[in-house]
Order: sequence, then C-alpha cells, then structure tokens
Amino acid sequence: MLKIKYLSHSSFILDDGKHSIIIDPFLTGNPNCKMKIEDVKVDYVVLTHAHGDHIGDCKQIAKQNNATVIAVNELANYAASEGLNAFNMHIGGAYKFPFGRLKFTIAHHGSSLPNGQYMGSPAGVLITIDGKTIYHTGDTGLFLDMKLIGELDKVDLMCVCIGDCFTMGIDDAVKAVEFVNPELAIPMHYNTFPVIETDPFEFKEKVEKKLGKKARVMEFGETITI
Ligand code: NI
Ligand code: MN
Repeated sequence: MLKIKYLSHSSFILDDGKHSIIIDPFLTGNPNCKMKIEDVKVDYVVLTHAHGDHIGDCKQIAKQNNATVIAVNELANYAASEGLNAFNMHIGGAYKFPFGRLKFTIAHHGSSLPNGQYMGSPAGVLITIDGKTIYHTGDTGLFLDMKLIGELDKVDLMCVCIGDCFTMGIDDAVKAVEFVNPELAIPMHYNTFPVIETDPFEFKEKVEKKLGKKARVMEFGETITI
C-alpha cells in the first residue's frame, strides 16, 4: 500500500513503508502547510524546479535526514554545492532507485533560484513506487506531449497544477488529464497565494462530468492510500 500525503501547494510525501520521498518541499512561508520541518522523515527529496515555492526547505530536510536530492543536472549540482547528497538526472531520462523508477519529463515553465540564478530546465516527474505510477506535472502550461506520457506509462495518480497565472488553469488542467488518462487526478498549486486562488472542486467536477474520470480534492495535510 502506498501512502500519499498532500502537504499543500505542490508538496507531497510518498511512503511505501520502506522508502519515503518528498516532492517539492515548500513548508516555510506556505500558509497552508501545517507540517513542521522537523517532522519530515524522508530518504529522498525530489525537486521539479528551483523556484522558491518548490525548492522550499530542501536544504534543511535533506540535511536532517541525510536524504538524497534528485533533480535535473544543474539543480542537482547546486544541491551538491550546498553540501547535500545529490543525484543528477535530466529530462527524458529514467533511473531505477531502491524505491523504484523515476523519470523526468518536460514542463513548460522557468527554473531560477530565489536569487535569480538559473538552474536549467524545469521538469515534471514520473515516479513508480510500490507498483503505482505517479505523474507530478511540476509547474507547467498545457502541452500536447502529455499524450505521450500517458501512452508510455499507465499513470495511476496524476498530480496536476490548476492555479492559473503561473501554470495551467482549471480548463487546461482538465485537458491535461484527458491527455494523460490517469486512474485518479489530484489538483495542486492553488490557493497558496491570492493570484492562484481557484476552486479545486470545479476542477473535480469537470474531470468527472466532461471526462468521466476520477478526481479527488485532497485536504491540506491529508493522507490517502492507493
Ligand atoms: Ni514555479
Ligand atoms: Mn510554483
């Protein structure tokens, strides 16, 4: 059984009972995240890109857990330069880790550190753990190649950004779900800041009514099992 905890924004913890992975650990400065950094126990930190609301508390979380940071080459090199264990990958490449397979996908966005320094390409990520495949879109606009992602891998869970302004809004996100065709879609990257305020239940309704597919709005801090 795979546990999925939604911290809020784009931050999730995947835990199969043996391995634990946090994606985009944005806790400090995130008004919707109730989890304390000290309580995050993980083996891996996966970063989709370097923006402050994604790299977040990566450094402290990786340090306190002696965890490995998995990111595209430029961002992984930066993590290593900060004294962290880092594993370098890049878009289109997959690697078999002890927990399972991880592959970075394209994402149409930016990837600068809060200080403006550029960190290579932003990414989405496919993670297969405990027999389930999760596609976390990262921050991105809609792109037709999402069809290919759904064609190459059967996606059990798609974490899809819906907040608009910086990423897909609801209607584009619904189209993205149609392209990827996951078993379950979970909206993310909304209601953290005023400019990305939106109604996740509108997304859920459109996925269910227009596509006849399953969507679920996770509460901030909620854990589900798939
Ligand atoms: Ni971003
Ligand atoms: Mn973001």
